[in-house]
Amino acid sequence: MSATISQKSVTTLDLAAMKARGEKIAMLTAYDFTSAILAERAGVPVLLVGDSLGMVVHGHGTTLPVTLDDMVRHAAAVVRGAGKALVIADLPFLTYADEAMAVRSAGRLLQEAGVAGVKLEGGASIAPIVRKLVELGVPVMGHIGFTPQSVNQIGLKVQGKAAVDARRMLDDALALQEAGAFAVVIELAPAALAAEITQRLTIPTIGIGAGAGCDGQVQVWHDILGLYGDKPPRHAKQFADVGAVIEGAVKAYADEVRGGTFPTDANSSKIDPAELAQALKGA
Ligand code: KIV
Repeated sequence: MSATISQKSVTTLDLAAMKARGEKIAMLTAYDFTSAILAERAGVPVLLVGDSLGMVVHGHGTTLPVTLDDMVRHAAAVVRGAGKALVIADLPFLTYADEAMAVRSAGRLLQEAGVAGVKLEGGASIAPIVRKLVELGVPVMGHIGFTPQSVNQIGLKVQGKAAVDARRMLDDALALQEAGAFAVVIELAPAALAAEITQRLTIPTIGIGAGAGCDGQVQVWHDILGLYGDKPPRHAKQFADVGAVIEGAVKAYADEVRGGTFPTDANSSKIDPAELAQALKGA
C-alpha cells in the first residue's frame, strides 16, 4: 500500500466506529490552508470544504455560482494544511447531474485536490449516482433536509415539518445509506426527526440546525468565529468574536502607519552607513 497514507489519518471507518461507540463527531468547514492548520491543531477530525465558500469567502448570495475549479483550488489548500483530519469537499451545483459527470467531478477533487471524499446534496433521486461513485472507490457523504443548491426550489427554511416531508427525509437517508454513503448531513430539520433518522441509520448523521440527537455536528467556520455578518444564524453558535479582534488589529496597524510609529528599527534591516555611502557614490 502507499506509504503516503498515514496510519493515524482519520478515515470514514473511524467515523462509523465513533457512531458505534456513541462518540460525537465534530466537523467544521475550512476553505484555506491557514484555517485547516488551526482546525487540525484544535483536533477537529473532519473538515468540510463546503460550497458555502461561495458566500463566506467569495461574497455571493447563494452557493450556486461556485464552480468545480473553485472547489478544487480551495480543497487543495485545505488538504495541504490538514494533517490527520478527514477532508471532504462538496461537489458544487450541477457538477453531478449524471453518473459520468459525477465521476469526472469527484475524480478532480480526489486526484487534483487530494480530498478523501465528496459530499452531494439530495436523497433517493441521486442514489444511483452515489452508488456509482462508491463502486468506483469514492467515499460519499450525503446531504438532506435543507439543501442549499436547491434554494430556488425549496426556499431557505426548515424541511421535514409536514408528515409527508418527514417520511421522505427518512426514505432519502435510507436510500443514501443503501447506496453506500458513509455518512449523511442533515441540515435544518426538526430535532426529533433528525434523532429518529439517526437511530434508524447505521451510518453517522451530521447535523446542522437539526438538534443534538445527530451523531455529529457541522458548523461553518465564519459562523463559530464571528467572521461573517452581524449575527450568526439561529443554528450556529458564535464561540469567539474573531472578527472584532481582526478589525482592532488592522485598525491599530493602519493607525501606526499613519502615525509613523510602524515600522521601527526593530522591523528594519540595517546596513553600515559608510558602506551605503560607498555603494551609492556617484549614483
Ligand atoms: O457548504 C457547506 O458549508 C455545507 C455545510 C453547511 C453542511 O454544506
